[in-house]
Amino acid sequence: MSDATTGNADQIAYWNGETTQKWLGNREILDRQMARLTELLLAAAAPQVGEHAIDIGCGTGALSRHLAAAVGPEGEVLGLDVSTPLLAEATRRAPANVRHLEGDAQVHDFQAGAFDLATSRFGIMFFADPTAAFANIRAGVRAGGRLAIACWAPLADNPWFGVPLAVAARHLGPPPPRPPRAPGPLAFQEPDYLADVLKAAGWRDVAVVREATTMQGRQTVQATAEFATMMGPASNLLRERQPSAETRAKIVAEVAEAFGADARGDGVILPAMVNIATACND
Ligand SMILES: C[S@@+](CC[C@H](N)C(=O)[O-])C[C@H]1O[C@@H](n2cnc3c(N)ncnc32)[C@H](O)[C@@H]1O
Repeated sequence: MSDATTGNADQIAYWNGETTQKWLGNREILDRQMARLTELLLAAAAPQVGEHAIDIGCGTGALSRHLAAAVGPEGEVLGLDVSTPLLAEATRRAPANVRHLEGDAQVHDFQAGAFDLATSRFGIMFFADPTAAFANIRAGVRAGGRLAIACWAPLADNPWFGVPLAVAARHLGPPPPRPPRAPGPLAFQEPDYLADVLKAAGWRDVAVVREATTMQGRQTVQATAEFATMMGPASNLLRERQPSAETRAKIVAEVAEAFGADARGDGVILPAMVNIATACND
């Protein structure tokens, strides 16, 4: 496990704190919500029967379970994460060919060259030293092995997060400014920056592609607005500013109004954008 020397102590505390209860309580909704973009990531990762794959920042293990089905009983998946409660849930639901370890991917002592594939669905955006982290992950991947990771594109292309944050900021004031590349969901919103980090970490044939996709919301626009306001960056602002119930209701109502045009018969579907990076190890 990492300590203050890695610079990741705050993130490790965050992923073992209050937030994890929201992830655990809503894991099925979140996995449904991210189903389409998970397909995009799996297409880029192309896991093969018999392969050994790492799922970095595996959370409750949705991607690990897809990988496990693809590599089959001859293959194996390692889910690595810093979050004790999320790993406990992942372990509870794991098929026989998935094992889990608690560790910080930036410094975890991977068995050298043991993996064919390193992949992650939004679990690699929280490193204090991303170049060191991706170099460390590369050490665990065999020569000729692959990397395939998904990260969020900017808020403006992700109304799911962007709209609740903009509405909440209008009512409560803007969130504290933070450097755009700081550890967090938007750390790799710039494709060129992500490509530079991967190249500096020694990966070759680096490609970062911006992919348009969709997020599956709840059955109604109101429920979708409530959920989107409760998760993600708007929720941090609400927790910090503690608005009245009336202001909260106003924020949700305005988010619902903004989402309204996207309502469909089979629930609300919102546009989304991800950066998918692929690379090879030498
Ligand atoms: C946004 S969640 C994504 C979880 C999961 N991959 C999913 O898609 O449901 C980010 C995950 O990265 C993990 N994480 C954050 N920093 C990490 C680190 N340094 N090493 C390993 N995992 C980390 C968190 O604990 C959390 O489970």
